[in-house]
Amino acid sequence: MIYSLEAGGKRIRPLLLFATLDAFGIDPKKGIQAACAIEMIHTYSLIHDDLPSMDNDDLRRGKPTNHKVFGDAIAILAGDALLTYSFEVINMLSENFTPPSAKMKLVIEMAKAAGAEGMVGGQVADMEGEGKALSLEELEYIHIHKTGKLLKFSVVAGAIMAQANASLLHNLSAFAHHLGLAFQIQDDILDLIGNQQLIGKPVGSDTVNQKSTYPQLLSLEGAKAALENQIKLSKDYLEKTDLNTTLLNEITDLVASRDH
Ligand code: IPE
Ligand code: IPE
Ligand code: MG
Ligand code: MG
Ligand code: MG
Repeated sequence: MIYSLEAGGKRIRPLLLFATLDAFGIDPKKGIQAACAIEMIHTYSLIHDDLPSMDNDDLRRGKPTNHKVFGDAIAILAGDALLTYSFEVINMLSENFTPPSAKMKLVIEMAKAAGAEGMVGGQVADMEGEGKALSLEELEYIHIHKTGKLLKFSVVAGAIMAQANASLLHNLSAFAHHLGLAFQIQDDILDLIGNQQLIGKPVGSDTVNQKSTYPQLLSLEGAKAALENQIKLSKDYLEKTDLNTTLLNEITDLVASRDH
C-alpha cells in the first residue's frame, strides 16, 4: 500500500479538492482526510489496472508496478485494503468542519463515484471494449466513468464541505465533468505520443491492448480538438460561479497542456 502511494503521482485529485475549498475561502488543510481518501482509491485503481489480467503494465509512477514487486496476490490485496481504508480515512474529517450529515453525503458520493455506477463501471466497459471498434459515444461513456467520476468527486467533495448551494454545486459538477473527460483524452494522447520518462508508465499500452482511444477514433488532431473543446466547456461552467477560481483555472490550464 505504501509502495504505490509513495511512488509519486501528480496528486491532481487532491489538488482539485484543495483548490475547490480555496475557491470558497476555506483553508484547504481542512479537507486533507478527504483528499487522502480519494488518492487512496485512485492508487488502488492503478494497482489493479496494471495487473496482467487488466492492462498488464510493468511501469507506474516511474517504478515497477505493484504486482511486479510483490506478486499478483499481494497487489490485489493492497488495492482492496486501500479502497477499504479510504472509507475509514474520510470518516476522520473533523466533526467541527464536517457535521455528520455532510460526512454521510461525502461517503455516499465517494462510494458512487468509485463503484459500479462510477469508476469500476467505466473500467468494466473499458475491458469489454478491448479489440472492438467502439463508437465515440461508447468511448465517451468509458472515459466519463473510469476517470471522470472520481475526478469529479474531488471537486464535488470540496463543494459539499463548503455547503455550496444547488446552483454552485451544479456548475462545479459540470466544470469537473468536462475536466475529467479532458483529463482522460490527454491520457490517451500521452499513451501515443508521450515520453515514458515523463509519464512514468509505458507508452503504447493502449495499442498493445487494442483499446479504443480518442486519437484512434478521431486521429491525433481530432483528439486534440476534442480536448480543447472539453477544456473550453469546463471553463465556461467555472465562469458561471462567483467564486475565486484562480487555482481551479490554473489546474484546468495544466490539464490542457500537461506532458505527464
Ligand atoms: C492515471 O491517472 C489514470 C487515469 C485515471 C487517467 P493520473 O494521470 O492522475 O496518475 P498519477 O496519479 O499522476 O500517477
Ligand atoms: C485508467 O485508465 C482508469 C482507471 C480507473 C485506473 P488507463 O488504463 O488509461 O490508465 P493508465 O494510462 O494505465 O494510467
Ligand atoms: Mg486501463
Ligand atoms: Mg492502464
Ligand atoms: Mg491510459
